[in-house]
Amino acid sequence: MLDEELSLLRTTALAELSTAASGAELENIRVKTLGKKGSLTQILRGLGQMAEAERANLGALANAFKEAFAEALSRRMQEIKQAELGQRLENEWVDVTLPGRPRNLGTIHPITRAQQEIIAIFTAMGFPPASGPEVESDWHNFEALNIPPDHPAREMHDTFYLPPGPDGRKRLLRTHTSPVQIHVMEGRQPPLRAIAPGRVFRCDSDLTHSPMFHQVEGFMVDEGVHFGQLKGLLEAFLIQFFERSLPVRFRPSFFPFTEPSAEVDMGCLFCSGQGCRVCKRTGWLEVLGSGMIHPNVLANVGIDRERYSGFAFGMGVERLAMLKYGISDMRALFDNDVRFLTRFA
Ligand code: PHE
Repeated sequence: MLDEELSLLRTTALAELSTAASGAELENIRVKTLGKKGSLTQILRGLGQMAEAERANLGALANAFKEAFAEALSRRMQEIKQAELGQRLENEWVDVTLPGRPRNLGTIHPITRAQQEIIAIFTAMGFPPASGPEVESDWHNFEALNIPPDHPAREMHDTFYLPPGPDGRKRLLRTHTSPVQIHVMEGRQPPLRAIAPGRVFRCDSDLTHSPMFHQVEGFMVDEGVHFGQLKGLLEAFLIQFFERSLPVRFRPSFFPFTEPSAEVDMGCLFCSGQGCRVCKRTGWLEVLGSGMIHPNVLANVGIDRERYSGFAFGMGVERLAMLKYGISDMRALFDNDVRFLTRFA
């Protein structure tokens, strides 16, 4: 009688174990069977009061059950743990081939940003980026650009001269980016084009002048290049850079390396031509220097001045950045005050 009960108990308990789906369920079955008041525990406890023969028989069965139960329990426990681990690996799977999320460290300085926007516009119009050294020879910065040693234009450049290099040649900090024209043209033949951003230096420092500032130079040389192309190009550039339609005018000017030369003005962004403080009541803002490359400059770099012509232009990045982002004090561009810079996040 009792042995039947025991064998039924065994069958159900082992069946329950094999279908238990979690550690908690296993624990319930364990307590129900082997806990203090568990069914098997009670049978084992009752063994003492039994007759010798019955006890031996039932005891053996009960112990076998207990062992089988323990074994099934730990096997099922293993299986459940494995399954849970598999689940976690499935759920918490990380694709290590995904690119990392870049951390946002700081912001782009308004000068860098304006520079990048200028370069992007001109590269899209077919001008490849170029660069030149900040420490220049007198030849690249002046002579090749049609500014001989005694030329009065040198006065305007407030040059920082450096001790001569090992070759004994005069060196200086470039006063404009126009020497990049010479670097690009030297040893090459048209068609040539470039857009060249860079730092330039002038021995001049006050409210509106910094001894170091930024320019972007652009030029193009080919057969039949003419002023109308220069005008169209610069108008298109200003409209794209300032993201609005603007009146643009070309005013006669003088640069030794361009002939004819023109200063480029655009309608004031702040008063639409009415006259305000920013445009000094003129309604116009001067934003670029430009002109047709002087034939002497082409000849200086070995380009046939009869066959080819070119235009060139240069702009001040600080000024363009201040106008575009509405910065009224140039010193803010050099103070590196984080409260100011984070406006350009
Ligand atoms: N290099 C001139 C400047 O610094 C600007 C300029 C560049 C003018 C190219 C004409 C052509 O003022």
